[in-house]
Amino acid sequence: MSKKSGHVVLAYSGGLDTSVAIPWIKEHYGARVTALLVNVGQVGELGDALERARANGADRAIALDAREEFATSYLIPAIQANALYQGIYPLSTALARPLIVSRLVSAARELGADAVAHGCTGKGNDQVRFDVGVRTLAGDLRIIAPVREWNMNRPDEMEYARQHGLRIHVKPDSPYSIDENLWGRSVEGGILEDPGSAPPEEVFDWTGHPDEWPATPQDLRIGFEAGVPVSLDGVRTPPVELIHTLNTLAGRHGVGRIDHVEDRVVGIKSRETYECPAALTLLPAHRALEALVLPRELQSLKSQLEQRFAELVYGGFWFSQLREAISAFMTTTQSTVTGEVTMRLYQGTARAVARTSPFSLLAPELATYGRGSTFPEGAAEGFIHLYGLSTALSYARKPPVEPSTAGESPRAPSAIPQPT
Ligand code: ARG
Repeated sequence: MSKKSGHVVLAYSGGLDTSVAIPWIKEHYGARVTALLVNVGQVGELGDALERARANGADRAIALDAREEFATSYLIPAIQANALYQGIYPLSTALARPLIVSRLVSAARELGADAVAHGCTGKGNDQVRFDVGVRTLAGDLRIIAPVREWNMNRPDEMEYARQHGLRIHVKPDSPYSIDENLWGRSVEGGILEDPGSAPPEEVFDWTGHPDEWPATPQDLRIGFEAGVPVSLDGVRTPPVELIHTLNTLAGRHGVGRIDHVEDRVVGIKSRETYECPAALTLLPAHRALEALVLPRELQSLKSQLEQRFAELVYGGFWFSQLREAISAFMTTTQSTVTGEVTMRLYQGTARAVARTSPFSLLAPELATYGRGSTFPEGAAEGFIHLYGLSTALSYARKPPVEPSTAGESPRAPSAIPQPT
């Protein structure tokens, strides 16, 4: 393929990789470069990042505020799907990628660009999410991935930046790769690569030092309407503000720290730490409300699809028909997920301690151990007779256990139970 390209739109973060990518793309592809900074709630000075992009040779530098779309169209579906990859990681980085891809592709179309670029390495998940996303939404666009192509390490990039007189904004001695957005903060690299070492305090930023976590718990009421978080302590709050506030409030109590060895798409295991205070408060709150209002069978199937949803998002298949169909299922399940959950924030944990809903399926007159129960206890015996019959029958008919059969203890013969 020719090395020439006309106009490249680069997904620009303001970090070292995408800063170095600007002059590198111009040199290697002879292309005009538009730096596109998609604001998904990352902390930091975006205006300064744009200035630096221009100073470093971008023909154009644009910032787009996508926080509301991120919260509404990506995070709320993830909350409704109780999305945790491998049961642990709330997919903060992964959920932002398809949104960045869609903004990147739209910008490329508007500007008449023939290529898009990203700063992902060749061994991570993000390259997969970017490339699968771009190929799905705009199969004709060329994808340029400088970091994957150039074979530079961090010191090489610093040297390249020095030689080209680039304005960069990185701590030269920080060994960590950090990604941030409204849903969380991911940190990997340096000493974290050794899963046998505890993460040093310096990797954490959104959760204070454990010595400063308040000694008394704080209760916080979260209101949901049809599976969407809508209020904090009774005050209606739009999604971006609600998540932002929870990051601060729960972060102050140390909620949201995750230390995980995860399985990447490309087949390797890697250790990463996360700080996701809002996610680790909202997800258990939402789940606690669902436990009150969803029928048992629905919860059971939903939890299987939740796992599939998380795997699809992690694996870069946000735009797949399967992910969309699962999301449609999730939305249908949420019609009664309305009510309030009290979360207790204390010393690194957020626990549901109370929940109320007009759609509660907990019927006190059936469940009570006190007076006035209407539960038909007389029906229990007959129910249990049939309920356990197939297990009892197969046990009674099983051949006796040979002493050599591994793992099975000898058992006395049994008979098919009779109704009492
Ligand atoms: N492992 C996470 C994921 O694949 C985060 C990746 C980005 N991490 C980082 N520190 N830059 O979604």
